[in-house]
Amino acid sequence: MEKRKIVTSRGIDAEANIEDSRIEGSLRPKSLDSYIGQKKIKESLKIYIEAAKGRGESLDHLLFYGPPGLGKTTLAGIIANEMGVNIKITSGPAIEKPGDMAAILNNLQEGDILFVDEIHRLNRQVEEVLYPAMEDYAIDIMIGKGPTARSIRLDLPHFTLIGATTRAGMLSAPLRDRFGMIHRMEFYDIDELCTIIMQSAGILGVEVDANGAKEMARRSRGTPRLANRILKRVRDFAQVKYDGVITEKVANVALDLMDVDKMGLDHTDRNLLMTMIDKFGGGPVGLDTLAAAIGEDAGTIEDVYEPYLIKNGLINRTPRGRVVTDLALTHLGLEK
Ligand SMILES: Nc1ncnc2c1ncn2[C@@H]1O[C@H](COP(=O)(O)OP(=O)(O)O)[C@@H](O)[C@H]1O
Ligand SMILES: [Mg+2]
Repeated sequence: MEKRKIVTSRGIDAEANIEDSRIEGSLRPKSLDSYIGQKKIKESLKIYIEAAKGRGESLDHLLFYGPPGLGKTTLAGIIANEMGVNIKITSGPAIEKPGDMAAILNNLQEGDILFVDEIHRLNRQVEEVLYPAMEDYAIDIMIGKGPTARSIRLDLPHFTLIGATTRAGMLSAPLRDRFGMIHRMEFYDIDELCTIIMQSAGILGVEVDANGAKEMARRSRGTPRLANRILKRVRDFAQVKYDGVITEKVANVALDLMDVDKMGLDHTDRNLLMTMIDKFGGGPVGLDTLAAAIGEDAGTIEDVYEPYLIKNGLINRTPRGRVVTDLALTHLGLEK
C-alpha cells in the first residue's frame, strides 16, 4: 500500500493526508468537462486526446508540475478515462530498484497509462530504465555477470507515462526532455473554486449559499484540495452549531476558528512572513537561511508555501533573496 505523509503541524496543509484519500475519490471529477479551470491545459489536452484517438495511437508522455492539491493526480485519471485505457499508479519513492521499474513496465498493456507521482524522487538507476522505455518502448535487461554478461532488449507495449511533481527543477534534463508535453498547474481563481465547492457540496449533500461558497473559496489558497477540506470542516461546524446551511457567517466563524485568515493564510504562512519581518528586517533573506530559521526544508518552502505568497504579492523574489512586501505588512496589520 502506498504510504502517505501525514502532516500534523499544518492543519490545512495542501498535501494529501489519510482523511483526504478516503473522501477525495468521491469528489474527484471523472471527465475533462467536470474538471474545473486549468483552461489552457484542458484545451490542449482535448486536441491531443482527440488526435491520438483518431490515429489509434497512445498519447505522448506528459508531465504536470505545480504545488500540491492543484489536480495533477485527478487529471491523470481523467486522461485515462477519456482515452478509455487503464491507469497504473505508482510514485517515485515507491520504486527502489531498476528491476521493479522494468517489471511495472513489462506488465503494461497496449495504450495503458503509467502515472508516476513525485517523479523527481526516482533514483538515477531507476530513471535510466525509463529512457529507452519512453523513447523506443523498450527496456534493456542485463543477463549474466562478468565477461559473459550481455544485454537483451525487450519490447514494451506503447504506453503513456504521466509524471507529476511539485519540483520540476529537480527533474534531470534527460528525463524532462523525454516528455512530449510539460504543463504547469496554475492556482485557481475564486470563481473556479466556488464552482468546485458547489460541485463537491452537491456530492456531499451539503447546503451552501453563494456567499458561503465565496468565503470558503477566498480562503482556499487557490487550491481545490483545500477548498474541499475546508468545505468538509465547515460543514461539520454548520451541522453542530447552526442549522446545517453554510452561509457567509457560518464560513467566517468556522474559518476563523480554524485559524485560516481572510487570504487563506494559516499559521505556517504567517510564521514565515513574521520570521522574515522580525529576524531579517523584512528581507532580503536567502532561502536556506529562512528555512533554517523556521525549521523547514528549503524545498518545501520553495514549492509548497512560497508560490501562493508570491502569486498574491506578499513576498517578492529578488536576486539577493526573499523580501516581504508592503501588502504583507498591511495584511498582517503592521505599520510600514
Ligand atoms: N480542476 C478540478 N476540478 C474539480 N476538483 C478538483 C480539480 N482539481 C483538483 N480537484 C479536487 O482536489 C483534490 C486534489 O486534487 P489532486 O489531483 O489529488 O491534486 P495533486 O495531485 O495535484 O496534489 C481532488 O480530489 C479533487 O477533488
Ligand atoms: Mg497527487
